[in-house]
Parts: sequence; C-alpha cells; structure tokens
Amino acid sequence: MKKKTIGVLFGGRSFEHEVSLVSARSVIRALDKNKYKIVLIGVDKKGHWLKGQMAKKLLKGEATNKGEFVPGFLSSIDIFFPVLHGPFGEDGSIQGFLETINKPYVGAGILGSALGIDKIMQKIIWQKYKLPIVDFIWFFKNEWQKNQILLIKKIKEKIKFPCFVKPANAGSSVGISKAHNQKNLIKAINLAGKYDQKILIEKAVKKVREIEISILGNEFPIASCPGEIIPSNEFYDYEAKYINGKSKIIIPAKINKEIKEKIKKIAILAYKTIDCRGLGRVDFLLDKKRIYLNEINTIPGFTSISMYPKLWNVSGLSYSSLLDKLIDLGFKYFKEKQKIYYSYQPKHQWHV
Ligand SMILES: Nc1ncnc2c1ncn2[C@@H]1O[C@H](COP(=O)(O)OP(=O)(O)O)[C@@H](O)[C@H]1O
Ligand SMILES: [Mg+2]
Repeated sequence: MKKKTIGVLFGGRSFEHEVSLVSARSVIRALDKNKYKIVLIGVDKKGHWLKGQMAKKLLKGEATNKGEFVPGFLSSIDIFFPVLHGPFGEDGSIQGFLETINKPYVGAGILGSALGIDKIMQKIIWQKYKLPIVDFIWFFKNEWQKNQILLIKKIKEKIKFPCFVKPANAGSSVGISKAHNQKNLIKAINLAGKYDQKILIEKAVKKVREIEISILGNEFPIASCPGEIIPSNEFYDYEAKYINGKSKIIIPAKINKEIKEKIKKIAILAYKTIDCRGLGRVDFLLDKKRIYLNEINTIPGFTSISMYPKLWNVSGLSYSSLLDKLIDLGFKYFKEKQKIYYSYQPKHQWHV
C-alpha cells in the first residue's frame, strides 16, 4: 500500500509551544516509517509556518528566522496531525483552517476543539446534561475592571474561599491560582486576566484526588483505565507538571470498581456532549464523597510518558498503535464529513 503522507503540526503561538515541541518529538519518533511519510510543519511563536530545515530547527527548539508561508505544499499532505496544545492549536483555529482547505486531520473538529478548550462553555454544557461539576461563576475581564466590589461580594457568597481562579482558555495551569483570601483573589484575577478575556472562579475541592482517563474514538468512543496524579505542589501547577519532576503518576488509579465505572461513564458522556472526536483526556477531581468533572483536553500531552498514551499502554494499546488508530479515526471523520451535502441545486431557476 502507498505510504500516507502525515503533516505533523507542532510549536504554535501559545504559551504551550514548548510542551508541544516535546510532544511532537515523541510522536515523530514513534510514527511507523514503513507506513507513513512524515512532513514536519513547525509554527513559530509569531505564527510563521516553517517547513524543511527551518521546521527541523524549530523542532529542536533552535532560533529560526522568519519562515515562508506554506499553503502551496499543504496539498501534498494526506492527513494532518496537530500536535499543538492550547490557544491557536487545540481551540479549533487550526481545525477551522484545515476544514476550509478540505483536508483530513487527527482529533476533534472546530466545535469540539473550541468547547474543549473553553473551561466555562464546557461546564455550561455539562451542567445541561446534569454531569457533576463544581460550583462556579464567570465574568469578563472588563466587567472585573468596572465592578470589582460587586464581583468580590458574589464570589464570597456563592463560591467562598479557598477558590480556584482560571483563565477560561488556557492550559498547563498557566494563569491559574488558588486563592485563600480576598487579597489572593484580587491578585489571582488580575493574573488570569493576562491570559484571557474571560475569567472562571471555581469552588476548590478539599482533600482532592486527581483522576484522569483517556478516551478514544469518534461517535462510539471507548475509555482506558483511569490513572491518578499526585502533584508535588499545593496543586498541579506548571512547575509540578513539567519542572520539578516530583509529581507522581499511578496507573491504574487505586479507586474502587464502582467509582471507576462511574468515571468511565461520565468521561464518555462529557466527551460526546462537547462533540469531541479522535482523542481526549478527561480529568476528574474527587473528594471523600463526590466525583467532579474538571476538564477535558482535546490534544493532551503526548510524550510516550504522558498520561494519555500511558493510560492506553496499560490498557493494552502501544504508543505507535495508538498513533495508527488516531490517524485512522481522522480519516474516518473526514469520510463522514465528505458525505454531507455542501451544495444545493434548486428545482427551478432563480428569479433574481
Ligand atoms: N476546583 C478545583 N479544586 C481543587 N483543585 C483544582 C480545582 N481546579 C483546578 N485544580 C487544580 O489545578 C490544576 C490545574 O487546573 P485545570 O483546570 O486542570 O487547568 P489546566 O487546563 O491548566 O490543566 C488541576 O490539575 C488541580 O491540581
Ligand atoms: Mg488540567
């Protein structure tokens, strides 16, 4: 069979650029070279698209000059694999671009990606489906700048301390703080406002355990076994995720069968209700009594030791077989979309 050409997209404009490079190196290494011809497509922090040697330099994290804009060679790619995290990669923008040029790609479409990154919108949808989430409120940064006293009052009444303050669209814990009092809160909101126009305030789950589960599939997704994260800091912040190397991952998570089954069921529903495709890692917060759905990542960390592929590995699916499956699901999603009518032939002539 003729080798498929895979365009691996990496880097990107977001603050998760560096995380993307690490994920992409792993993906590129593991893609089966007997099956695929790999084309590297790097996107630098300014949004320039790089190919060839320039893309290779970017992948290694080396400085690059302004690259050329590349649409010309995009037509030779059979399927794109966006290994991009955060805004401009995981949020539907790249997906939208690939839709407009009618190309297959791995993962969720525009809507699933946009809802997957927006922590407020996904919560509103999950609320509609009666999925368990923590109490929250949200507001625009501009509203905060105008009505600080009123918003603080509302947070104190409805959410109380401690609470989590988050930019709606971010990732890797960037811009997230835990506020224990009013002074912390003001600082935390100002920080979150640097990363997004929308700010989310959530009740903090006490004595929390963090459980994550991997989902794979399009219309009939399946779930892996769940895993547990034991963060090395007060919460799973950027440093605990990538810098100090002291956080622990336990796979499978030591939770009873009943909770495990509940988590699987909720995760699949959470995935489907936001219109996710291909892959997603669904994260939960547990206290002594309850399970809360925290968030979904539609392009989760993807090194061979990242939670998403590791959970599949323990569930019996190797890293490179997982990549094969994701590529296959991308082609299937594309095929389904090709069946949709995008032109309309009226029975009679237009009268205008
Ligand atoms: N409501 C909450 N209660 C307790 N801990 C939380 C809560 N929300 C977030 N956290 C902590 O903050 C971390 C980052 O928050 P999360 O919503 O997962 O953002 P990100 O998309 O940046 O990973 C979580 O992994 C967890 O450690
Ligand atoms: Mg998270």
